[in-house]
Amino acid sequence: MLSVPSRIFDHMKKVLVTGGAGFIGSHTVVELVLAGFEPIIVDDLRNSEERALDGIAKILGRTPTFHRLDCADAVAMDAVFRAEGAVHGVIHFAADKAVGESVANPMKYYRNNVGSLMNLLGVMDAHGVHRIVFSSSCTVYGQPDANPVTEDAPDRKAASPYGFTKVACEQMLRDQCHADRRLRAVLLRYFNPVGAHPSGHIGELPLGVPNNLVPYVTQTAAGLRDHLTVNGSDYATSDGSCVRDYIHVVDLAHAHVRALQWMEEHDPPVCEVFNIGTGNGNSVLEVIEEFRKVNNVDLPVVMGPRRAGDVESVYADTTKCRTVLGWQAERSLGDAMRDAWNWQLQLKR
Ligand code: UFG
Repeated sequence: MLSVPSRIFDHMKKVLVTGGAGFIGSHTVVELVLAGFEPIIVDDLRNSEERALDGIAKILGRTPTFHRLDCADAVAMDAVFRAEGAVHGVIHFAADKAVGESVANPMKYYRNNVGSLMNLLGVMDAHGVHRIVFSSSCTVYGQPDANPVTEDAPDRKAASPYGFTKVACEQMLRDQCHADRRLRAVLLRYFNPVGAHPSGHIGELPLGVPNNLVPYVTQTAAGLRDHLTVNGSDYATSDGSCVRDYIHVVDLAHAHVRALQWMEEHDPPVCEVFNIGTGNGNSVLEVIEEFRKVNNVDLPVVMGPRRAGDVESVYADTTKCRTVLGWQAERSLGDAMRDAWNWQLQLKR
């Protein structure tokens, strides 16, 4: 456990973290504290659990400030900004992210993902807060013409309402930065976040059957699922399965801290987009193999049909995040597979 004395928080810059109890949010809260910021978590726990806060407390030796509310609730958010006083910046994670659910219930996604950002920008403006880091996604690229994909690759027609909310929110931030010259925004396009905190105290808590590959791998290895199905083996990739850029969640959390620092260093204000990935593409079969190798654990795997909406291959060109933002991934796929398994084992206890 790291010991962070309470009085230190009195002198730290406050950063409001919407969705701070979630997978990426909780890891970012930890890295913010280690970098000298004071995170203020706003989360309604619709997709996360209070035990993430306990995990953060175990790592840091102190529970960060937590407001349980929906950040699309303007009145409640206004009260948070009032109560907290000077807020240095906002990191906005709170959003729904299940592609299939967004097709079935698009209004939920427009209301929550687009509505909450609109609301947040209004409340930030009312309280003189002019820095925001936004969670975007490589989903905006669809299937790019070329890999590794650069930030200036054209946006593709979104394959789902979820994907379109990311495109719409990015555009909203660009438009608002253009209109309000005090606003600074960093849009981080995440590739595939995986792994967990090496302490095993925080990690991904998928509700129900996981949609994503790595929680499915760990749950299958733990005996909670019969087998893992590889979604498609006839893609034009080296082994026929889809290729993605898997980034360790702690590296991704660092990118948010770096984005805040980068905004502080910039005057006049900026609105910039960065790919946040490793630059390496790995196939589904390579991920499974790496999991088996680093953990010395096997799992039943069957080959299945393609999953609707999947792109064949996407991985990041990392030139801009390295040279402009001054950030790069430091952890390997093996590190991520080890930490994901360690987290799964802790969950069982
Ligand atoms: N996969 C399997 N079996 C499974 C689960 C996943 O083979 O049981 C495959 C998928 O078909 C895909 C790859 O593993 O080929 C990665 O799938 P994930 O669901 O883990 O991740 P995605 O790349 O589909 O989606 C992620 C985020 C989205 C984001 C998207 C952008 O979860 O929020 O990247 O590309 F929009």
